[in-house]
Amino acid sequence: WRRFLQTVGGVTLVTIGSLGAFYYVAQKDKTPGVQLPHDPEKKTLVVLGSGWGATSLLKSLDTTDYNVIVISPKNYFLFTPLLPSVAVGTLNPRSIIQPTRYVTRHKTRQVSVIEASATEVDPIAKTVKFADTSEIQGEVAETSIKYDYLVFAVGAEVQTFGIPGVKEHSCFMKELEDAEKMQRRFLDCLESAAFPGQSQDEVNRLLHMVVVGGGPTGVEVSGEIHDFLEEDLRSWYPELANSVRITLVEALPSVLPMFSKQLIDYTESTFKEAKIDILTKTMVKEIKEKSVVLQRPDKSIVEVPCGLVIWAAGNKLRKVTQDLMARLPQAQTNRRGVAVDAHLRMEGTDSIWAIGDCAATSYAPTAQVASQQGAYLARILAQIAKRDNLEVRLKTLQDGPQTEETKPEIASIERQLVKTEKLRPFHYSHQGSLAYIGSDKAIADLPFFNGNLATGGVATFLFWRSAYLSTLFSLRNRTLVATDWIKVKLFGRDVSRE
Ligand code: FAD
Ligand code: NAI
Repeated sequence: WRRFLQTVGGVTLVTIGSLGAFYYVAQKDKTPGVQLPHDPEKKTLVVLGSGWGATSLLKSLDTTDYNVIVISPKNYFLFTPLLPSVAVGTLNPRSIIQPTRYVTRHKTRQVSVIEASATEVDPIAKTVKFADTSEIQGEVAETSIKYDYLVFAVGAEVQTFGIPGVKEHSCFMKELEDAEKMQRRFLDCLESAAFPGQSQDEVNRLLHMVVVGGGPTGVEVSGEIHDFLEEDLRSWYPELANSVRITLVEALPSVLPMFSKQLIDYTESTFKEAKIDILTKTMVKEIKEKSVVLQRPDKSIVEVPCGLVIWAAGNKLRKVTQDLMARLPQAQTNRRGVAVDAHLRMEGTDSIWAIGDCAATSYAPTAQVASQQGAYLARILAQIAKRDNLEVRLKTLQDGPQTEETKPEIASIERQLVKTEKLRPFHYSHQGSLAYIGSDKAIADLPFFNGNLATGGVATFLFWRSAYLSTLFSLRNRTLVATDWIKVKLFGRDVSRE
């Protein structure tokens, strides 16, 4: 009995301790302290965007160095890797977003957050024009500000290649509203198929889900739809479940070209078992209201009836990025994105840095790259602030009377300035590629000693979950996502259509 009571006592103490620590961290997050106001002596740093690049920068940036202004049409950060899970209701949309103010209100100096889209950047006059593009606007909905330094982190937008019908008839998988729209339309297809008197052909059409693009986004979305079907729809729509079909269309010879061959094969065989059809070397030529037009490998054209098309065919530059590049035609000749030097400074400017999907670097446009670039840039900006302060001090000393006391200080500042000139170039450290493929399986290409470890299966799925849970930016998001996973395990996904 004594041993039993000791164990119970120990467990109780540990539980109370953990809950106390959890409560303390949550309360600390919830109650930001008093911040220093903007300082007219400091330079203005404008950050465009609130995605992976910008948020990672803001987390690491020492805001005492600058007056920071963040401009983004979304007043939150979106954790994109879990977006496909929102599209089928595994996760609540709010679980994977974090208001930008939750980051900025914890910084030492105030950071202004403006919900607006940058419409024009003038790299010569050093100004940014921006507009409130939301539903509700005040008397002023457009203005411009001057910057000393600008971080350009606006990401990319969905590439449609000008294919007819893509914008009108398909769902994207890029923003939170895209996932919510897909969930609504998917459930609408189901309910319409359940409408009395529907012919079997029409039921088959409504329940045919076509995913375009065999990159990681398309593969993850296909896997998530399959899970929804197997784990929930079979219970709530037993008469329809067998008619649901998922087709993944990819123009290239295989899906997931960025993963190792072994994992491509594993994904293809998992999809085969899951009855997800993969059509490779097949290109979508047009999307109509009730069908998708495909060009098959033999170049023949076929029109396939479907209820829902999810477009995950890659990204292109935003207009604001193209316009900025067009202002510096000599230096900006890379059509993939903003050309930057080894320190991520935009070629042809001395005060703009470009990070993430909008920048043309030798790395893939991923969250991993964008977040490492953001953290790197925070260090560079700290060094630049130090250099700027030294230069101001040097100028003050040089403009004043030269005495025996000022001479050594001038020499010391000059030495320090030489040091601050040496900026380390950006170096990307690849932590591996992970993707969820449905049926509680994930694939991972992980750097292992000097080689690569390719792994797939249920254990990799658990690793995928824990990796993303720990990568989420806050305790709040981690708690919400973990709770959603538990809720779905216990009660299943909600099939009500909002
Ligand atoms: P974003 O994160 O897209 O941020 C851009 C920001 O700019 C946004 O806040 C946007 O609102 C804002 N903005 C847009 N226009 C303007 C404007 N005119 N003015 C000001 N601000 C503007 N990568 C991985 O490494 N691993 C993954 O598992 C992974 N999964 C993904 C899943 C999905 C469904 C998607 C779509 C992408 C995924 N990615 C993943 C890729 C990753 O999301 C991107 O590479 C990453 O978001 C790039 O970061 P970014 O900061 O450049 O752009
Ligand atoms: P992507 O560019 O990687 O893939 C798009 C695919 O669509 C391409 O394979 C292309 O051949 C195909 N395609 C284009 N037009 C087509 C057409 N008309 N018909 C048929 N197929 C067509 O895009 P994705 O998947 O959105 O990824 C974007 C970036 O985000 C990538 O860098 C990717 O690595 C990253 N990402 C990473 C994830 C992960 O690591 N788990 C998850 C999602 C995205």
